[in-house]
Amino acid sequence: MEYTEEILVERATNTKIHDVDFSNLAFGKIFSDHMFVCDYEGGKWQQPKIVPYQPFSLEPAAKIFHYGQSIFEGMKAYRDADGSVFLFRPMDNCKRMNISAKRLAMPEIPEDYFMNGLKELLKIEKDWIPTAEGSALYIRPFMFATGHGFHASPADTYKFVIAFAPSGPYFTGKVNVLIEEKYSRAANGGVGYAKAGGNYAGQFYPTHLAKERGYHQVIWTDDTTHEYIEEAGAMNIFVRINDTLLTVPTSERILDGVTRKSILKIAEDEGIAVEVRKIKVAELIEAAENGSLMELFGAGTAAVVSQISAFGYKGKDYKLPELKDTFGARLKKRITDIQTNKIEDPFGWRV
Ligand code: COI
Repeated sequence: MEYTEEILVERATNTKIHDVDFSNLAFGKIFSDHMFVCDYEGGKWQQPKIVPYQPFSLEPAAKIFHYGQSIFEGMKAYRDADGSVFLFRPMDNCKRMNISAKRLAMPEIPEDYFMNGLKELLKIEKDWIPTAEGSALYIRPFMFATGHGFHASPADTYKFVIAFAPSGPYFTGKVNVLIEEKYSRAANGGVGYAKAGGNYAGQFYPTHLAKERGYHQVIWTDDTTHEYIEEAGAMNIFVRINDTLLTVPTSERILDGVTRKSILKIAEDEGIAVEVRKIKVAELIEAAENGSLMELFGAGTAAVVSQISAFGYKGKDYKLPELKDTFGARLKKRITDIQTNKIEDPFGWRV
């Protein structure tokens, strides 16, 4: 579909920006003044608009409430010391949004609607991009079924939205995780590779059970044997055994994380030995017991790199060593320095 529409802009009458303490931001709790919206009706995307951030009005029978047609993306914008604004691999998020849309029988959003909407909204909201260490403007593109009816079939109308939340770190401090033995995040043939809202809803109860036992997050294992690790909470997982960095291959159960693939590339560029292969829980336990397990960390847009301090499995807890220089910290610094234009970007990711 050709992007032919000008974006209609309705400005907010007041700004909320002066109420915000940009030096002390939580993650995803406050929202900028405007949002981008575009409705899908009559088989096509309608006039794209930028409007004041505001609630939606939906039918009680809207299919989002009943059949869960809801997908999203997570991205960030950064501002450097000169005030220039940067995105990180935005086309990858756009493409993944459409992979998710296809799997959930939702209409794909044309790339230029996504990218032009995002860029125009960023121009209007650039003052909302925090610059404090560890903070960024978190970008949430999402799409949901507005069409209504109790028939269990795809809706005929949808809304695509981009909203911004100036945010601080997702996690503060190291996390303690439980390797899941019963529940799973995704199954073959399912929607694990899509960024579907329901994938996250399904994680809340097992994560709540883990929290009751004193853990922050769950390490997901495969749904058939629970013998292989797959993801870390809402992040991809990385393991360091001796001086090799390992992660599991993406699959129909595992999200193709933008941070995951960027970390892999940077690690290779830094001469770190990298292996992308299946990882058995038994291998982790053995490595923890023989002292070769050096690091475990999660990687995702929101959390960037989140170091894991300990993990529990079958009633036993295993502590990770407290290293002075970790691969996690080194890779996190390089990726955030690229994102925030502090160093050269040899990969062409920063736009
Ligand atoms: C992200 O890392 O951006 C995600 O979408 C995960 C979400 C749970 C915050």
